[in-house]
Amino acid sequence: MSMNEQNCTVIRDGFPRPFPDTPNNVLEQFKLPGRVAVVTGAADGIGYAVAEAMAEAGAHVGLWYNSNEAAIERAEELAKTHGVKTVAFKVDVSDSAAVESTMAKVVEQFGKIDIFVANAGMAISKPILEQTLPEYEKQLSVNVGGVVYCAKYAGEVFRRQGSGNLIITSSMSGHIVNVPVDQPIYNGTKAFVTHFGKSLAREWREFARVNIVSPGFFDTKLGAGPLAVNEAYRMAVLGRQGHVREIKGLYLYLASDASSYTTGSDVIIDGGYVLP
Ligand SMILES: NC(=O)c1ccc[n+]([C@@H]2O[C@H](COP(=O)([O-])OP(=O)(O)OC[C@H]3O[C@@H](n4cnc5c(N)ncnc54)[C@H](OP(=O)(O)O)[C@@H]3O)[C@@H](O)[C@H]2O)c1
Repeated sequence: MSMNEQNCTVIRDGFPRPFPDTPNNVLEQFKLPGRVAVVTGAADGIGYAVAEAMAEAGAHVGLWYNSNEAAIERAEELAKTHGVKTVAFKVDVSDSAAVESTMAKVVEQFGKIDIFVANAGMAISKPILEQTLPEYEKQLSVNVGGVVYCAKYAGEVFRRQGSGNLIITSSMSGHIVNVPVDQPIYNGTKAFVTHFGKSLAREWREFARVNIVSPGFFDTKLGAGPLAVNEAYRMAVLGRQGHVREIKGLYLYLASDASSYTTGSDVIIDGGYVLP
């Protein structure tokens, strides 16, 4: 940042940087042939839809899962259908050593990581006065710790490679105090990862892009529960939750050359929920 007009006239070495050598055709920009993508929470829900989007665009995919072994079969199906390499890795993202060693295994098996989607998350939605401290610590360990560990160890790979792309799944609940269920801890964890991602976009400016996706309610296991679902239909301008196939294009955009000038962005995709 220039502090005054005189300071602003000083030419900085290496600026402006060259435009990247990306295709002119916009549909070509969305293709990911030969790229390697990793998605956490990839067995189901938003994560699986993202893994599918990456494979459909031609990327090889590492599907990270925690407890849902369906990831193994789904990885095999993706490989068969799209002619790409896929491997399912079992890893608890709240375990920093497991994240570090699994990151190394991915590099060993795929040779590199171009795109890392830190998507795994969980919620124990309760008011703070009813939330136990272990419940608070659990949410913090997965939603914050998990994203921090994935970013730290993926970032080391990106810096070594001189390139990389991190996408973090946050939530509209990092922007608004969602109603009617009080869930201050979940909301706080998502606000953390949103600002963390923006901060990394600057820190990693020499070698990687970082962007955030903030979904509203999507029809998954973490979507609107019985207490929230009617409010979700009322608040979303589109009058419904999102289907996971409606979020694939956004992740693909952020993962691909189509977004080569996009970093530090936080895209809300919520059917208009946060408008009022
Ligand atoms: N659906 C929504 O309305 C909504 C709205 C805003 C934000 N989000 C965010 O979107 C992301 C994906 O959620 P989703 O809606 O797709 O629900 P989901 O299907 O329940 O996905 C959550 C994923 O997180 C994984 N996970 C949980 N704890 C983990 C741990 N300790 N280590 C590794 N993985 C772990 C789960 O893996 P396993 O099943 O293998 O254990 C699961 O695949 C989450 O970050 C969530 O907060 C969702």
